[in-house]
Amino acid sequence: MPLASPESNSPPQSPPAAARETLAAYARWAALYDPIIGPICATGRRAAARAAGRCGRRILEIGVGTGLTFADYRPGTEVVGIDVSAEMIAVARHKAASGRFPQVRALLLMDAHNLDLPADDFDAVAVPFAITLMTSPERVLDECARVVRPGGEIVLVSHFGAEDGAAADLGRHLTRIGRAAGLCFDFPFSRLKRWAAARPDIELAERRRLAPFGVYTLARFRRTAASPARVPAAPPKG
Ligand SMILES: C[S@@+](CC[C@H](N)C(=O)[O-])C[C@H]1O[C@@H](n2cnc3c(N)ncnc32)[C@H](O)[C@@H]1O
Repeated sequence: MPLASPESNSPPQSPPAAARETLAAYARWAALYDPIIGPICATGRRAAARAAGRCGRRILEIGVGTGLTFADYRPGTEVVGIDVSAEMIAVARHKAASGRFPQVRALLLMDAHNLDLPADDFDAVAVPFAITLMTSPERVLDECARVVRPGGEIVLVSHFGAEDGAAADLGRHLTRIGRAAGLCFDFPFSRLKRWAAARPDIELAERRRLAPFGVYTLARFRRTAASPARVPAAPPKG
């Protein structure tokens, strides 16, 4: 798949209010993201790219941002990145145009809630530092499960907040302050577990805290079978 030009796909239409806040935040972040956030999240990004690469060649990255993961995908992989922020993906496209990352095949301006991509097409979907920012994370995960092949994996890396108690209260407070800057500190891991439990075709393959200090968690969800909607109905008895 060729590298998409900025004109080759349409921006998402009429995003809801929460999404508008995220769009505004990342429009501001685009110029500063690499020097400020780059080093802080480097270990998590690398872990996500490596785990995705172990599933096969075809990788979709959701919320690819400025393309800080590019160097983490090994040669021979075929990476498609999508992001809802025109400003962030413009930086990623500039990097890809340098020719240094032949593994990056396409960068598409797209909302993760409505992936304009075929079903069962990817060996892995990597979501580094993005799932907690989505308006409807469950909808995004459903989309990930749709486009990943049976046997493939959804690899998430993020900071997941405390489930309850004072730490959860603090997370909610920090999120209220940080929301306008596109930050989230109060997304509990149990929300992902509930999503997986509601889907017979998804299992949690791994959950581990990452260095430094275990602030970030890597989670791998495996798609075990054809999604329910696509399983053929049993033949009538008798
Ligand atoms: C914290 S940044 C992470 C960027 C990159 N994955 C990294 O690790 O450096 C979150 C990214 O998710 C993107 N994002 C947020 N909501 C999105 C959505 N609904 N669809 C696609 N991308 C989205 C933002 O535009 C931003 O680029």
